[in-house]
Amino acid sequence: MIYMLDTANIKAIERAKDLYPIKGVTTNPTIVSREGRSFLPLLKDIRRVIGDENMLHVQTLGLKAEDIIAEAEYLKANLGENIYIKIPVIPEGIKAIRILKDKGFNITATAIFTSQQALMAAVSGADFLAPYVNRIDNISGNGVEVVKDIINEINSYGLHAKVLAASFKNVQQVHELAKAGVHSVTVSPDILDAMIHHPLTDWSVEQFVKDWEKLYGEGKLTKDVSK
Ligand code: E4P
Repeated sequence: MIYMLDTANIKAIERAKDLYPIKGVTTNPTIVSREGRSFLPLLKDIRRVIGDENMLHVQTLGLKAEDIIAEAEYLKANLGENIYIKIPVIPEGIKAIRILKDKGFNITATAIFTSQQALMAAVSGADFLAPYVNRIDNISGNGVEVVKDIINEINSYGLHAKVLAASFKNVQQVHELAKAGVHSVTVSPDILDAMIHHPLTDWSVEQFVKDWEKLYGEGKLTKDVSK
């Protein structure tokens, strides 16, 4: 499982990178605009925080293939080799995916709502496919089932694309897809914390510390009481 963080908030990225095995950051125009900062300096800050070894997924805005390609070249020139150009799966986007893949770009096909969109993007050369789980749920679809279909199709055709499930609103959606063998997920900082939170874990840790401190003293660790 590859975990990525779906935010452009520098503090949240610093914290998550420190605590969790994050392999990349994903952004979209909405996420970027929430930060209220100039685009390129913000993205360069994210690159500095995550390092060159981690993936940075950045979305293009163009609606014509030639504009998407020009944006991809600009983004790669400014944000380093380990960048994934997020391209929506509109027809001109599919065209851009094919051209950019031939030029050696890393591609994340995004705004995916059906398995046919995902399959077309994968056959066109996308490295990651980003279906939007919660947005499908919100129109009375079943986001988890759509992503399961995509996983099955990618596996049965032996395509190299990885499914990067996105748009989560709760941990259960992530859990269902982990059971189905999803390759990667991108989640908000809140969901990332919620994924490992359990009140019984907190209670147990508190209890261990209390019992220990009764005998060995407040604030003492194993290394402090060996004699
Ligand atoms: C990531 O690639 C998507 O842009 C993002 O997860 C969408 O999430 P939302 O539906 O919560 O806006």
